[in-house]
Amino acid sequence: MAQTVPVLEMQGISKRFAGVQALQNVSLEVGRGEVVALIGENGAGKSTLMKILGGVHQPDAGEIRINGQPTVIRGVSDAIKAGVSFIHQELNVLDNLDAAGNVFLGREPLTGGPLRLVDRARMREEAQPYLDRLGLGIAADTPLDRLSLAQQQMVEIAKALSLNAQILIMDEPTSSLTLAETERLIHVVQDLRAHGVSIVYISHRLGEVKTLADRVVGLRDGKNAGGLSKEEITHERMVKLMVGRDLEKFQAAPPEAGRAVRLSVRGLRTRRYPDREVSFDIHGGEILGMAGLVGAGRSEVAQAIFGVDAPLGGALTLDGQALTVRSAQDAIRHGIYLAPEDRRRSGVIVDMSIRDNITLPALGRYASVGLIRRGAEERGAEAASRSLRVKAPTTDFLVRNLSGGNQQKVVLAKWLSLGPKVLIFDEPTRGIDVGAKAEIYDLMRGLAKEGVALLMISSDMEEVLNLSDRVAVMHEGRISGFLSRQEASEESIMQLAVGGAGKGTR
Ligand SMILES: Nc1ncnc2c1ncn2[C@@H]1O[C@H](COP(=O)(O)OP(=O)(O)OP(=O)(O)O)[C@@H](O)[C@H]1O
Ligand SMILES: [Mg+2]
Repeated sequence: MAQTVPVLEMQGISKRFAGVQALQNVSLEVGRGEVVALIGENGAGKSTLMKILGGVHQPDAGEIRINGQPTVIRGVSDAIKAGVSFIHQELNVLDNLDAAGNVFLGREPLTGGPLRLVDRARMREEAQPYLDRLGLGIAADTPLDRLSLAQQQMVEIAKALSLNAQILIMDEPTSSLTLAETERLIHVVQDLRAHGVSIVYISHRLGEVKTLADRVVGLRDGKNAGGLSKEEITHERMVKLMVGRDLEKFQAAPPEAGRAVRLSVRGLRTRRYPDREVSFDIHGGEILGMAGLVGAGRSEVAQAIFGVDAPLGGALTLDGQALTVRSAQDAIRHGIYLAPEDRRRSGVIVDMSIRDNITLPALGRYASVGLIRRGAEERGAEAASRSLRVKAPTTDFLVRNLSGGNQQKVVLAKWLSLGPKVLIFDEPTRGIDVGAKAEIYDLMRGLAKEGVALLMISSDMEEVLNLSDRVAVMHEGRISGFLSRQEASEESIMQLAVGGAGKGTR
């Protein structure tokens, strides 16, 4: 019998981008049917290492062996030929195709006739089982732009599954999924492993890593930082591997009692759920967590308040004054900001620098007599970017070239620099590492202390429980209940999220 060689060996991989040594002499091995979790802080080099395996980037040095054979991967098609399939951190789906078209993109089955057209019926038929396996509950001919972000991410996962790869790279596959979907995905991963598929799993959700990983490999500042065997995988040890030190456990400060209602929402109706009404209040200094399953309508509420998707009805008041918000400009003028869930589409402009992204909506504040004072703008951007520890050589750095988590920090820096009255966060720490998360939580707490009203939509249960003074749970377009800090638990939230009876006050 042949000696078992690892399915994947990456050895001595180095990669330099202009001004950034992203990887230095990094090695990674994965055995057959093994789930290896790759962890590290934002910008540690995880995605870059996997993009080299996936043929997106060429390494400056190093070797890749697959099943013991030295393998040169010059492009994405080489990677696919070598049996590597890649679920990217940033969505790669095409809006103008249906789900099946995305699953079979570039490999569409053709009709037998002389015209050799794409055989849509067959494509849909073949795509459906992959969608079903993920419990997606959508038809293969659903246009992508009708799906939520989470569902789009699931379509991307279905696409990777359909390639029947021997090595599957999952770069934060669950970052926009909620609990139920994440659980489903975890089962799919376990099933693939049982069928001998080797998996590299990147996630900042350490609970998930603990459940899934057979082994953990840490990266820090582009270098190997060590590893953990299955028995060694604990939250504390993973944190230490990533940040190189122990973190203090985050402790929410008790809310200050007796603050006035800052934002009041009454009878708000959105296009997604035209016959459901949403009403709630947020007090100054309060963080209202908003939990619920994907598709419950949370993001729609946020967008209606922010004016990007005009509500069908309802009334808003800010500090007791009736408020009309017809556009995002209206909202911004009143000090209401939204840090959106899909940062690539509405949070940042990736072809602009960090500085321009942070200062863009704030230009008015820095302008004097129609002239932009470049110096002040620059200092503001520097300060905001530094306070969130955005990892980049200078604030001139293009956002496109930042790691995923650091892009998210730029979105936050942009709003934090504006002195908000109401801040709506839609998945504020999606894809953000543990250390930076703690910093962002501190910042949110700090803003609350200054009297800002915060609405935090989050699918990260730990985050909702740790940070919220109160939790509103949504189910199918309405609020199924409110929970006080004391009442809120994973169980009580899940029960309301699936439509269970609730109580409580707005
Ligand atoms: N195309 C590029 N040009 C310049 N620098 C880049 C490019 N791609 C990545 N980098 C830099 O390389 C470093 C590693 O980035 P990478 O995306 O691999 O991090 P990561 O570990 O995946 O982080 P995250 O957890 O935030 O996704 C970062 O400093 C990033 O800014
Ligand atoms: Mg990444």
